[in-house]
Amino acid sequence: MEQTVALKRDKIVTLLDGAASREQVLIKGWVRTRRDSKGFSFFEINDGSCLRNIQVIVDAGIGNYSEAKDLGTGAAIAVEGKLVASPGSGQPWEIQADRITVIGTCPEDYPLQKKRHSDEFLRTIAHLRPRTNKYGALFRMRSRLAHAIHQFFQDRGFCYIHAPILTASDCEGAGAMFGVTTLDLRNVPKRDGRVDFSEDFFGKEAKLTVSGQLSGEMFALGLGEIYTFGPTFRAENSNIARHMAEFWMIEPEMAFYDLDANMSLAEEFIRYLVTDALDRCREDLRLFARFVDPSLMATLENIAANAFERLPYDDAIELLRRSGESFEFEPAWGADLQTEHERYLTERYFKKPVIVYNYPKDIKAFYMRLNDDGRTAAAMDVLVPRIGEIIGGSQREERYDVLRSRINEMGFDQGHYWWYLDSRRFGSVPHSGFGLGFERFLMLVTGVTNIRDVIPFPRTPKHLEF
Ligand code: 4AD
Ligand code: MG
Repeated sequence: MEQTVALKRDKIVTLLDGAASREQVLIKGWVRTRRDSKGFSFFEINDGSCLRNIQVIVDAGIGNYSEAKDLGTGAAIAVEGKLVASPGSGQPWEIQADRITVIGTCPEDYPLQKKRHSDEFLRTIAHLRPRTNKYGALFRMRSRLAHAIHQFFQDRGFCYIHAPILTASDCEGAGAMFGVTTLDLRNVPKRDGRVDFSEDFFGKEAKLTVSGQLSGEMFALGLGEIYTFGPTFRAENSNIARHMAEFWMIEPEMAFYDLDANMSLAEEFIRYLVTDALDRCREDLRLFARFVDPSLMATLENIAANAFERLPYDDAIELLRRSGESFEFEPAWGADLQTEHERYLTERYFKKPVIVYNYPKDIKAFYMRLNDDGRTAAAMDVLVPRIGEIIGGSQREERYDVLRSRINEMGFDQGHYWWYLDSRRFGSVPHSGFGLGFERFLMLVTGVTNIRDVIPFPRTPKHLEF
C-alpha cells in the first residue's frame, strides 16, 4: 500500500540560506506580490522568518492553477514544489510550484496593498504592522536582542529575578503610578471622606510597578548579582516620543559594586548589545540604515568601538553654560538635564555616549547613596545620541541611618519601607544597579524616532487599542 508522508514545513530563511537544490519543499506564508505573464504566475512569499521573500513560479499547467491565479496581496498559502537555482539575480533559490493550497484568502480592502506606508498610518493598524517589512524586521530584532540581554547576564553568572507587577510601594520615586482595584468605582467605600482601601482586594491601596528595583535589591543582597527584565508602568500624562505608559525595563542589581563598577557594567552592557545587533541582525539592520537613518551603521559602530565619556554633573553644567548654545531651558545647577542638553553633550560635544554622574541629591530618588559633599548623590545616567537618557542608575544608600533620614526628609511613610530598611540592618553592603529602557534601546539600534513604533501594541495617554 502506498504511504504518503506529510511534508514538514520549511522556513523560507532556511531555504534561501541553504546550499543545495531540493526535490520537494513545503512553505507556508503570505503573498506579498503576484504578477502574471504568459502561462505563468510569479509570487513573492514571506513567512516572517526573514526579511527576504522567496519567489514562487506557478505554471498555468499545474492542477489547481485556477485556485492560485486570483490570489492577491495578503492571502495565506501553502506551496509544495522544487527548490531550484534562480536564474534571476538577487536571490539564490526559487520554488517551482507543483501544488498551491489556499489557506486564507484576502479581499481587496486589505490595507497593505501599497509597498510603503507612513508610520502614522501603520499605527492605526498596529494589528497588521507585523506583516510589513519594516515591522517584521523590528520585531525580529526585538526578539533577538531580548535573547542577547539574557545571554549577557547569564554568561556573567547573574540570576534572573521575576519582580512583582502588583505592588504596594507607592514611592519608588520614579513617577506617577496606575492604581489597581476591584472596588466598584461607581460606589466607592469611604471613610473620613477618603477611599477606604481596607475593603479593596488586598486590603490596602495597590499599584502597577514603576520599577522592579526595590525587589531586585533584596535578591542582590542574597544572590549577589541579579537582573530583572519585565514590564513597568508610568502614569505621567506624557505624549512625547520617548515616553510610554507601559514599557519594558532591564534592571541589574549587584552587591559589592560601587558607582564606578556600576558605570563600567552599564557601558559593557550597551556595547555588547550593539555589537550583537551588528553581528546577528545584519539583514534587518540594513533596512533601517536604508530607509530610516542613513547614519545608523556609523552611530552603532562608533558605540561598539569606543569608550563612553564620563562626566560629573557639575562639569556637565559648566560645559553646557559655556557652550554658547541658546537652549530653550537655561542649564542651571540643581535642575535636571533636559533632552536638549543631553543631546548637545552626546551629539555635538563628545560625539559618543556620555555617562553623567553625581547628580544633585534633591532631583534624585531617596535610595541613591548620599555623597560626602552632602549635596550630590552617587547617581548616573547614560546618555546616547538622538535619544538622551537611556539608562538611569545609582549606588544605593546602604547606611541604615542615612537611608531612614532620607525617607523622612522626602515625607514618605517609613512603615511602608520596613522590609527595605531591614535589608540595611541585616548584613548591609554597598550595592548598585541601573535600569535600561528596552524600547529606548531599540530606538537607538534601529534609528526609529517614535517609541510607539518599537513595541507591539503601544499604550499612551488616551490610547488603548488592540
Ligand atoms: O530613570 P528611571 O526612572 O530609573 C528607574 O526606574 C530605576 N529604578 C532604575 C534602577 O536603578 N534600577 O528609568 C530607567 C530607564 C530610563 O533611563 C529610560 O530608558 C526608561 O527606563 N524609561 C522609560 N521608557 C519608556 N517610557 C517611559 N515612560 C520611561 N520611563 C523611563
Ligand atoms: Mg531616569
